[in-house]
Amino acid sequence: MTEFNPSNIIVTGGAGFIGSNFAHWVADNKPGVHVTVLDALTYAGNRENLDGIPEGRMTFVHGDICDADLVDRLFSEADACVHFAAESHNDNSIADPAPFVRTNVEGTFTLLEAARRHGTRFHHISTDEVYGDLALDDPARFTKAASDLLVRAWHRTYGVAATISNCSNNYGPRQHVEKFIPRQITNVLSGIRPKLYGDGLNVRDWIHTEDHSSAVWAILERGRIGETYLIGADGERNNIDVLRAILEEMGQGPDDFDWVRDRPGHDRRYAIDSTKLRRELGWRPARTDFAEGLRDTIAWYRDNPGWWQGAKEATEAKYAAQGQ
Ligand code: NAD
Ligand code: TYD
Repeated sequence: MTEFNPSNIIVTGGAGFIGSNFAHWVADNKPGVHVTVLDALTYAGNRENLDGIPEGRMTFVHGDICDADLVDRLFSEADACVHFAAESHNDNSIADPAPFVRTNVEGTFTLLEAARRHGTRFHHISTDEVYGDLALDDPARFTKAASDLLVRAWHRTYGVAATISNCSNNYGPRQHVEKFIPRQITNVLSGIRPKLYGDGLNVRDWIHTEDHSSAVWAILERGRIGETYLIGADGERNNIDVLRAILEEMGQGPDDFDWVRDRPGHDRRYAIDSTKLRRELGWRPARTDFAEGLRDTIAWYRDNPGWWQGAKEATEAKYAAQGQ
């Protein structure tokens, strides 16, 4: 197997949760690699997420992945693109699907066209939700599934050197307070009771975002072109267990939370089998101690109130209006 060793990579959505963790991971682990972050700084993006990456290792470009001229210029100077930019939150897609179609579908199309013109290696970040129960569900997973199909088509029809990974639920520092784990941690820190949807028995397969980053790098470097890899760390847990672990770690009682209205079309369970990634590329997750990962994540939110407090009130107002 020949290794691909990029020296200049574009990271779309690099100011968001997983993209910024990936940019930090590359800065910490791959000294010869320069990262160009392309991010529109939507409500989910934050330039501060990239603080601490040394000057000279990263260039930040404030722009939209749907801007074909900008994308073309950046692709002319890079040898790979790792594509994280997306509208990512299911609850938002139910209220307003338009930005999901634009960014997830049109944005991915724009990037693929540039990859085709410039022969750029392309890695598409996706989620396990695309394999979910598609019968009733929300536009977030449909637009994400559509983007995966575009990547496959551009590989098969035009020979774009693409790979795809579908990862399970990530947790760790710098995740937006609208998501489950940070919402509950910051609720406790703000004196608000945590909120659990439905019967709390929905299962998610949790992976620390650092393990997601190392898996993406393994695929970029050694993955077979045209292949899709599932990324997971055998971290299946139901929501009530996760919430109770947070409550215990934060000195709350096991019932110190509110049951709230369920999400429409709420998927019951996700679970990822990452055998192919482990066997073919020898990847192993390193941060599988969930209690420890949760403790570190809680400590990060406790130590960085300035990072999340600005978004907290608006997020809770939006949830309250939905009865959640
Ligand atoms: P996020 O919402 O935290 O970040 C998304 C980033 O993309 C933000 O910085 C935002 O400003 C940027 N962005 C949005 N629209 C853009 C546009 N048109 N042009 C340029 N930038 C734009 O999301 P995340 O949780 O970090 O997820 C990143 C990717 O990983 C997504 O593709 C998501 O589907 C996938 N994923 C997420 C999870 C998870 O648990 N969060 C799990 C598996 C896969
Ligand atoms: P979320 O973080 O939105 O990720 P996803 O929908 O991509 O899995 O939600 C994780 C789980 O937590 C999901 O089953 C919905 C549930 N949930 C709650 O019970 N309460 C909440 O306040 C939120 C935001 C989510």
